[in-house]
Order: sequence, then structure tokens, then C-alpha cells
Amino acid sequence: MESQGKVAVVTGGARGIGRATAEALSREGYTLALADRDLAAAQEAAAEMSAAGRTVMAVEADVADRAGVERMAQAILDSHGRIDVLVNNAGIAGRAAPLLEVKESEWDEMMAVDLKSIYLCCRAVLTGMIERGSGAIINVASIAGKEGNPNMIPYSTAKAGVIGFTKALAKEVAGQGIRVNAVAPAVIETGILRQLTPEQVEYMKTRVPLGRLGQPEEVAAVIAFLASEKASFVTGQCYDVSGGRATY
Ligand SMILES: NC(=O)c1ccc[n+]([C@@H]2O[C@H](COP(=O)([O-])OP(=O)(O)OC[C@H]3O[C@@H](n4cnc5c(N)ncnc54)[C@H](O)[C@@H]3O)[C@@H](O)[C@H]2O)c1
Repeated sequence: MESQGKVAVVTGGARGIGRATAEALSREGYTLALADRDLAAAQEAAAEMSAAGRTVMAVEADVADRAGVERMAQAILDSHGRIDVLVNNAGIAGRAAPLLEVKESEWDEMMAVDLKSIYLCCRAVLTGMIERGSGAIINVASIAGKEGNPNMIPYSTAKAGVIGFTKALAKEVAGQGIRVNAVAPAVIETGILRQLTPEQVEYMKTRVPLGRLGQPEEVAAVIAFLASEKASFVTGQCYDVSGGRATY
């Protein structure tokens, strides 16, 4: 397998899309690191995957914290010596509220967890990727970053930033053998939806032409493709996994 001996880190890998992505990448032969601020849940997921014969470690990290992200990368490098694939997946949806009710602290938290984290995690792995002349980074954006969801302005703004970051970094490192792409899921059936009101979830679902919630495995499959050599001529792109919600 092309991925034998290669190491992938998935942030927010304890559950939801991150967990499904870790499963998909480990089936491809990658050694996995599940990085999550919920260490107990990451350890539980890692134990389940290990029992299924996968090579996987759990690492505690708050992706919004520079020192924590640097410790996370160092722990993985100490154990495995390299990071070949970074999936920047950890994120929060925030509270559904009109702009005038959004507190400054909520805005700041969203920018830190859903956007600054991408900057921090990419910086923590890029040096090694540049030295090896290869690597793949996949950022989990959202359809909200392309279309804008009312009552989710901080989230929509942060995710639009993730898409811009992806396109710019892809061009910056294209000559160094590193590909950078994003995925834009629409509404996916994970625990993150509990942060929102049922009305907000229904609003998002009604905008999906395929007429249903997506499953984490359906996002994971696209991320695994973008990580693989099958996507060797793909960089700087944002792939929708949205049941057809956006048409561009
Ligand atoms: N579920 C959806 O409908 C949907 C749609 C579009 C985009 N997304 C994006 O997909 C990604 C994963 O979401 P999910 O639906 O699997 O959510 P989830 O809540 O099921 O899982 C998120 C994981 O990230 C971890 N996490 C949260 N903040 C963190 C932090 N600061 N540091 C480290 N770990 C942290 C959580 O502990 C959790 O394990 C997010 O970036 C989200 O914005 C989700």
C-alpha cells in the first residue's frame, strides 16, 4: 500500500467526521494519531481501533492553543518520526443566534477554534513535510463558508477563512510536493448538531437537494481520496460533500 509506514494526524479525531476519517485512513494503511481536546474519548476511539488491528495513538491537544499544538506534533514525531497527512478537522458550530446577539467572546472562540487552529496546526507539521518534499493537508471547511448560513455568522466567516487559507497555502507549497485541499460538508449527522437548535438543523437540511443528512463516512471517503495519490494532481480545491447544496 502507498500509505504503508506513513503517518496521518486527524484533529478532533475522537468522534464524528474525525473518527470516521481516522477509520478510513487506517484502512488505507496509515499509522494514525487522533488529536483531541477530549483525551478520554480519543483514547477510547484509539483503543477500539487498535483492537481492530490498526496502529493508532491518542494525543491531547486544544487546537486553538499554540503550545498545545506544538506539544501534539512533537509527541507524534517522537513516536513515529514523521507526519505525512494532516486533517484539520477539529471544530465547533457555536450557538445559533442572529448577529446582534453574538457575544464578542463567542466570536473570538469561533475564530480561535475553527480558523486560527488551521494556521497553528499547519505550521506545526509543514517543516517536516517541506524537508521530505511531500505531504497532504486536508482542511474541513463547511458549506456555510461558501453559502453563508443565517444565524451562524461566526461559523460561516471562520469556514470561509478556511477555504481562503487552503487556496493560498496550496499555491505557496505546490512546488515543494505538498498538496492542500479542503472539504465543505453540508449538514452531517454528528454530535456537533446538538450545539444548534432543531430549527437551525432543519433549515440546513431543507437546503440539501438529496434531502437528507449526510453521514460522517461520506465525508471521510472524500478526505481519504484527497489524502491519497489518486488525488496527485489536485490541490487548492474545496470539495463539497453537501448532497448538492452548492452549485459552484
Ligand atoms: N456535522 C456537520 O454538519 C458539519 C458540517 C460541516 C462542517 N463540519 C465540520 O466538521 C468538523 C468535525 O465536526 P463533527 O460534526 O465531526 O463534530 P463533533 O462535535 O462530532 O466532533 C468534533 C471533535 O472535535 C473536538 N474538538 C472540538 N474543539 C476542539 C479543540 N479546540 N481542540 C481539539 N479538539 C477539539 C471535539 O472534542 C470532538 O471530538 C468541524 O470542523 C465542523 O465544523 C461539520
